[in-house]
Amino acid sequence: MDHRMLDKNSQKEVASLFTSVFTSSEGEKEGKLIGDLASELSSSADNQEIICIGAYEEGTIVGAIFFTRLRFDDPVKVYMLAPVAVSTSHQGKGIGRALIKYGLNELKNSSVAVVITYGDPSFYSKVGFQPLSESVIQAPLKLSMPEGWLGQSLTEEPITTISERPTCVKEFNSSVYW
Ligand SMILES: CC(C)(COP(=O)(O)OP(=O)(O)OC[C@H]1O[C@@H](n2cnc3c(N)ncnc32)[C@H](O)[C@@H]1OP(=O)(O)O)[C@@H](O)C(=O)NCCC(=O)NCCS
Repeated sequence: MDHRMLDKNSQKEVASLFTSVFTSSEGEKEGKLIGDLASELSSSADNQEIICIGAYEEGTIVGAIFFTRLRFDDPVKVYMLAPVAVSTSHQGKGIGRALIKYGLNELKNSSVAVVITYGDPSFYSKVGFQPLSESVIQAPLKLSMPEGWLGQSLTEEPITTISERPTCVKEFNSSVYW
């Protein structure tokens, strides 16, 4: 398995991976929604505000993940993990776990303090995420499933409270994702 930082040159293969994976797991409408989101995120991937990492097997993309910056007035570095996908035929072989671990390690090496995600606690708890109260860190938009708001510290310190609401990258600035 080979992990690579991706940029806009990978937009097509990344969009097609997310469309196909989410169409298989959630249906056509969700497949298009997340495929379009991945396409937009990928076209702006700059390894700063939007980080995209691909997992390749024999030159073919089999998984991809995005991390995007959540911005506060406070200079603390907080990123959000979303979305992540492993090709349907390669799921359940540890590729998702390895991709998340690789991404978290890259962020840790860039002095990121906290990573947040919004998803299924039963999966994300396997890669270090725990339920996060919005009284500690708020979501950028109103959450429809607050129990899916999860976080993990990348430092030795527990997650500390940040009083203001963050802003997300513009690609996530729509209630459909929250
Ligand atoms: C979720 C996903 C990224 C996981 O990747 P994967 O390569 O299949 O997962 P792994 O093989 O690395 O599994 C890691 C662990 O998570 C568990 N797991 C995998 N998918 C899970 C799910 N949907 N729910 C709960 N647990 C899950 C595995 O059983 C494994 O646990 P174990 O080591 O205790 O057995 C992948 O299955 C996928 O793309 N699914 C469809 C899209 C999706 O739901 N994306 C996440 C939301 S953005």
